Amino acid sequence: MKLIIVGAPGAGKGTQAAILADTLKVPTISTGAVLRKEIADGTEFGKTADSYIKAGNLVPDEFMVELMKDRLSRDDCQNGFILDGFPRTVKQAEALDEMGVVIDKVLDIEVADEKIVMRLSGRRECSSCRATYHTSYNPPKQADICDKCGADLTVREDDKPETIQNRLNVYHESTEPLIDFYRKKGLLVVAQGQEEVTETTKEVFRVLGIE
Ligand code: AP5
Repeated sequence: MKLIIVGAPGAGKGTQAAILADTLKVPTISTGAVLRKEIADGTEFGKTADSYIKAGNLVPDEFMVELMKDRLSRDDCQNGFILDGFPRTVKQAEALDEMGVVIDKVLDIEVADEKIVMRLSGRRECSSCRATYHTSYNPPKQADICDKCGADLTVREDDKPETIQNRLNVYHESTEPLIDFYRKKGLLVVAQGQEEVTETTKEVFRVLGIE
């Protein structure tokens, strides 16, 4: 399965990608996670990406396309993958086509803007293994400690209220046109995001035809 997941910031792409990757036994490539690692490692690429991410803006297409060309050529991607966060503009989608990558399905997770703010302001991320939690909807067993690896949970830099609104604006302007792009290609399936993670997973599996 070569799957792209699209949806607003906080729609649950990363949460569902992790569950799908376990079920489908393919790697997830989360461009947000890749970029945050580059920043943490202090690479030149990370330095370029940092200011865009902190402001809630998109990293320029040419950087992202180069990054993904390299990532998708690696051995672990040859039997399928889940793309979480790429493509994010029609230009990136066209570049993916030009790379000769044939996508099976594009999953759009739909969540209303009002809910996004609540989700992102309560999100906590593991400082080590990057597992994602929510203070109310998906809390860790022990407050601020990762269930999986025991490291501290942190708040993402771009989950500050003023940045969340800009990310939503950028999503509607630059990423939403992808939905029509993939609908016209006959690849789009839409899942309505639910109040509970497990309910959203049921909906995602249903629209993707996974038993
Ligand atoms: P990225 O990390 O991809 O951020 P995003 O798209 O804004 O998405 P998020 O990771 O914030 O949300 P999500 O949909 O994965 O939701 P999650 O599962 O965590 O990108 C960050 C930045 O990198 C971008 O702003 C940009 O600058 C740059 N970038 C990345 N890719 C790029 C590209 N291709 N081109 C250019 N720039 C790029 O869930 C959110 C919260 O809700 C969690 O707390 C979770 O526990 C909770 N939750 C999830 N599902 C449910 C549910 N059903 N009910 C209740 N709570 C739920």
